[in-house]
Amino acid sequence: MSSSDLSDDELPSVASQIKHAPEPLNLVWKNLTVETPDGKKKLLNNVSGEISGSLLAIMGPSGSGKTTLMNVLANRVRGVKISGELRINGLEVTSSLLKKLSGYVMQDDLLFAHLSVEETLNYAAGLRLPKKMSAEEKQKRVEDALSQLGLEGCRGTVVGNAAIKGISGGERKRLCVAMELITHPKLLFLDEPTSGLDSSTALSLITTLGEIVKTRNCTILCTIHQPQSKIFSLFHSVLVMSRGQVVAMGSRDAVLEQYTRAGYPCPEFTNPADHILDVITALTPEEKQVAQDHVTAIREEMVAINVDLEAGRRDSPRKSTRDLLGSINSRSWAEDLPKPSCDRNPSSSRSFSNPSSWPCSSERSFTKSERRKRARFVGSPCSSSASSIKESLLL
Ligand SMILES: Nc1ncnc2c1ncn2[C@@H]1O[C@H](COP(=O)(O)OP(=O)(O)OP(=O)(O)O)[C@@H](O)[C@H]1O
Ligand SMILES: [Mg+2]
Repeated sequence: MSSSDLSDDELPSVASQIKHAPEPLNLVWKNLTVETPDGKKKLLNNVSGEISGSLLAIMGPSGSGKTTLMNVLANRVRGVKISGELRINGLEVTSSLLKKLSGYVMQDDLLFAHLSVEETLNYAAGLRLPKKMSAEEKQKRVEDALSQLGLEGCRGTVVGNAAIKGISGGERKRLCVAMELITHPKLLFLDEPTSGLDSSTALSLITTLGEIVKTRNCTILCTIHQPQSKIFSLFHSVLVMSRGQVVAMGSRDAVLEQYTRAGYPCPEFTNPADHILDVITALTPEEKQVAQDHVTAIREEMVAINVDLEAGRRDSPRKSTRDLLGSINSRSWAEDLPKPSCDRNPSSSRSFSNPSSWPCSSERSFTKSERRKRARFVGSPCSSSASSIKESLLL
């Protein structure tokens, strides 16, 4: 069933079922391609992925397509050509479905300078919560949001702007998140929530987001620029982008292992987030080709997975990790990906019950050049263990 099969009467009840279900929703995107109307520039190139009930960091150099991907997932892109599929619990995503289930915090949110923090939240509650909800319940939502985002201390302070001194930059960001939390979204998109914040404010904001994922079974996607290591460690999963393509995706460990397999292990005492970006970022025009070669090598090590467009549908039981693991390698994340290097060995057959047959877990599955590359990093871990692959699938 796609949303086009849903009547206007059915949509609210289906959305309400998803919203009030005890389990997190499942967001799946498959072969998303975004082009400029004249077809001259590809902003996203055949991007696929899946996320359910976790805090995902979308990372990548400036201009790599992070905001574009998030806007497409949030159904907020206009004036470009979009192809591919996007589903929530098996339902085709439409703006009306997203409106009922999700919240979006922009990089620079517009707020009224003359309203206090509490007034801003009261207005948001009045405008965004159902008319039939009681005033007490609305007030409770405001109080909960104030307390969850640590805004009680400035509830009476005006928001302010360049001319009027008001709340601090960190409080402003937290207020923007609080405004979205009022509706209890099941899915939350945040574009660079930590930009412009000092490290401890940024850490406290991402910690709060992690708590929301846990306590509300919410699924949260954030674009983020080189977070400090403490912040990086709070993300459950990471999606790395370069030039409109996915370079790596999975749990933090799985992404770092993918880099290691490609020959770029994270050096000791280095912030993994810095490493992930440094390897694929060109600082000068001369470095462009080198960075692109790194991207190609890392993409080659991406664990192939078949994204399940039906995942999370009420009438199709939720796929267990084991089911997902069983589907490894039947298709790649992105159809245009070069086949994982292990596939070059026709004798390799992989199954869940035989982890040693999984990508790059045995030396025999490497080509000569890959073995040479790995040899330069003797002692670096290259263990696509069952648990790490399992983690990589549970975004
Ligand atoms: N509507 C559009 N028309 C043409 N090009 C666009 C359009 N939207 C985005 N782009 C281009 O697509 C690329 C990716 O943009 P995007 O905003 O997604 O990057 P980003 O990774 O979020 O960068 P940053 O970290 O700087 O925010 C950029 O080169 C941008 O100029
Ligand atoms: Mg951006």
